[in-house]
Amino acid sequence: MKHYLSIHDLPSIKATVNEAIELKKDPLRFNHLGKHKTIGLLFFNNSLRTRLSTQKAALNLGMEPIVMNFGAEGWQLEFEDGTIMDQGKSEHVKEAAEVISQYCDVIAIRAFAGLEDKAKDESEEVLSAFVKYATVPILNMESSVGHPLQALADAITIEEHKPAKKKLKVVLSWAPHPKALPHAVGNSFAEMALAHEDDFEVVITHPKGYELDPEKTKGARIEYDQKKAFEGADFIYTKNWSSYKNYGQVACEDRSWMITADKMEVTDQAKFMHCLPVRRNVVVADEVINSEQSIVIKQANNRTFSAQVVLKKMLENL
Ligand code: CP
Repeated sequence: MKHYLSIHDLPSIKATVNEAIELKKDPLRFNHLGKHKTIGLLFFNNSLRTRLSTQKAALNLGMEPIVMNFGAEGWQLEFEDGTIMDQGKSEHVKEAAEVISQYCDVIAIRAFAGLEDKAKDESEEVLSAFVKYATVPILNMESSVGHPLQALADAITIEEHKPAKKKLKVVLSWAPHPKALPHAVGNSFAEMALAHEDDFEVVITHPKGYELDPEKTKGARIEYDQKKAFEGADFIYTKNWSSYKNYGQVACEDRSWMITADKMEVTDQAKFMHCLPVRRNVVVADEVINSEQSIVIKQANNRTFSAQVVLKKMLENL
């Protein structure tokens, strides 16, 4: 594996999940792999978990992390080829990516969707430019359309907490939020869950108008009745996203979609998951996130091991 841009870049999701669970038992076992290797973490957007867990993963592998808040501290980048750069942008991504490749053995990038221009977001302008011009592997720390490190952590968490059942009911539920949010987490969770087609029944529930990209959700059951979707569920994964059809719009602010204890009652003692950060009592009621059913903190811990198993694969391939 050279780049990790989507969950589908993994040779096998199941084998990688098992490898991550093994790594977790002895996190420093491969500490020699990253000796004298550097990872550059470039943040065009804010982060808590991704920023710290990816550095922790790199340190566990013996790598040296360098972090840059590129959006706030870097030169404003030009992405178009052939542009006359006489306006505000100071540096072309071609030079930036080539230069950073000389300092770093892996480049990790966080660059969210702008949610104004669907075609531009779907072209993955920032990530694709670094893939094109950098000469080292690229790690996606959440791009316009995907968050594959999060999805891998989610798969690890489900594997660790699954009940003994032949087929698990895994529900992705939209929840309200005051701001327009990107689709990346929902997309990658759906892709990961649907890749477990033999093991998971995947149900996605949201108000009408909030359908995700149908390419990402092919094979999932879409259920507009949230409580019906929750019946007998083993995992409730909650996330807000803005409308995909009316791109970036907030079409519904119905607070009744918040995850509450009475909704969790109809599940089969489902575990509650969220990638965090989460707005309490808007997305999820305190009574749910504070309950025994909530595994959000353990889920966040697995961000280290999802990053570590991916970086291990990259280092083995350098
Ligand atoms: N879940 C997640 O990616 O968290 P951060 O945005 O804090 O990195």
